[in-house]
Amino acid sequence: MLADLQLQLDRTLVQPAYRQLYERFKAAIGKGVLRPGERVPSIRVLASELQLSRGTVELAYQLLISEGYLQGRGAAGTRVSTQLSGTRTATVSRPFAAPRALNSMPLAGAPLPYQLGLPALDAFPRALWSRLHNRQVRGMSPTAMGYPAPAGLAALRQALAAYLNISRGLACEADQVFVCAGYNGCLELICRALLRPGDEVWHEDPGYVRSRQLLQAAGARLLPIPVDDQGLDVQYAIEHSPQARLALVTPAQQSPLGVALSLPRRLALLEWASRQGSWVIEDDYDSEYRYSGRPLPALKSLDRQDRVLYCGTFSKVLFPGVRLGYLVVPQTQVEHFQQVAASFLGGCPEQAQGVVCDFIEQGHFARHLKRMRGLYGERRQLAREALNAELGGALAFADLPGGMHLLARTAQDDQALVQRAREAGLGLQALSSWCLQAGPGNALLLGFTNVQDAFQARQWAQRLARVMA
Ligand SMILES: Cc1ncc(COP(=O)(O)O)c(C=O)c1O
Repeated sequence: MLADLQLQLDRTLVQPAYRQLYERFKAAIGKGVLRPGERVPSIRVLASELQLSRGTVELAYQLLISEGYLQGRGAAGTRVSTQLSGTRTATVSRPFAAPRALNSMPLAGAPLPYQLGLPALDAFPRALWSRLHNRQVRGMSPTAMGYPAPAGLAALRQALAAYLNISRGLACEADQVFVCAGYNGCLELICRALLRPGDEVWHEDPGYVRSRQLLQAAGARLLPIPVDDQGLDVQYAIEHSPQARLALVTPAQQSPLGVALSLPRRLALLEWASRQGSWVIEDDYDSEYRYSGRPLPALKSLDRQDRVLYCGTFSKVLFPGVRLGYLVVPQTQVEHFQQVAASFLGGCPEQAQGVVCDFIEQGHFARHLKRMRGLYGERRQLAREALNAELGGALAFADLPGGMHLLARTAQDDQALVQRAREAGLGLQALSSWCLQAGPGNALLLGFTNVQDAFQARQWAQRLARVMA
């Protein structure tokens, strides 16, 4: 099913992969999203990122070089040609800064075993990060010491637009990208810009608890929409709440069930939104982590009527404390979002944005993702094997193609179990506590990304086994 989905989802199915990649680059260069002289990812890194063969990427690059779009510069890497004329450089306006509204922050404190949603904190390249950070501080200009731009650092918005065009297939420009305080900040901005008190909002059930809370606090009337093996039940949603203002989905890997939203449902969702004049929020929080099959194209890449607001976060791919995420808004909404951002967003710290920007532009981001994908594949295996060894048949694991947690069905009451696990210092969660209505039964959600080795995996599993005994 997934393999079919990926192929069908591809708008340019008749074109071979190298040609599609070539077109993406050409379009991004034409729009000025990739600028003359800018370095593009190496063949090895991009092939790994898009899970294509190196030959395919090489073919695309050769074509782009032969047509003068790119220039190979040996050790200096491949860059966008400086000879290009007539390409437009996307401009990013820099509205004034405004005082920041109070924001509820997520769970803090030392990470617990099996805690959800945290990347591998031990594997983060701290030395490199501190080098990039020091460079930012040393080069800090008076402008960078003033109030930050509410919509984000221009250079980071530019780098994100380039990344999203190439790696996620989003045809966006830098002025559509808003840098916010994580996904939470993105959602807050969307609510301020588009939601009126009492508006109906579709929310996946089970679904991410914090977005539910934030929407409710913003005055939304939440409609819990069931999720099955094809993702959000769009037909059910249309029948029960055709007038909804917003639909919030996690299409790549439904949070927390891990299923992908099927192609027919993606099309039905987009069709409903354009017919109704409603908006779809795509929360693309961890699609980078897939261990089998190709990465799925973003829902936004199918969005011909421009109804999708795309959200990404650095919480999973870097670390949550960096507190940065990004929102891509439809071109028609850019001005409105700029005004709203200027009226309530204080902007995000520019030094942190500068470090992230360097991390992306110098190629570290793509390398880090590749490394983490390999590491998480191994850690997932370690955690699962240890749990199987200690708990035998007491847990039945769902076969999730990606993500950062295991989903294990249990015959026990999952909330009571988690309560006891908390007392024993374990950070797992109960699936039923992610539901608004009675739903998919008892299951445990177990983060595996911080399992450092087989010994630790065994220790954690033994602690859980004692809790479940
Ligand atoms: C479904 C979902 N979306 C988004 C996020 C990231 O939120 P933030 O960027 O605010 O840390 C998470 C984090 O756990 C999540 O589970």
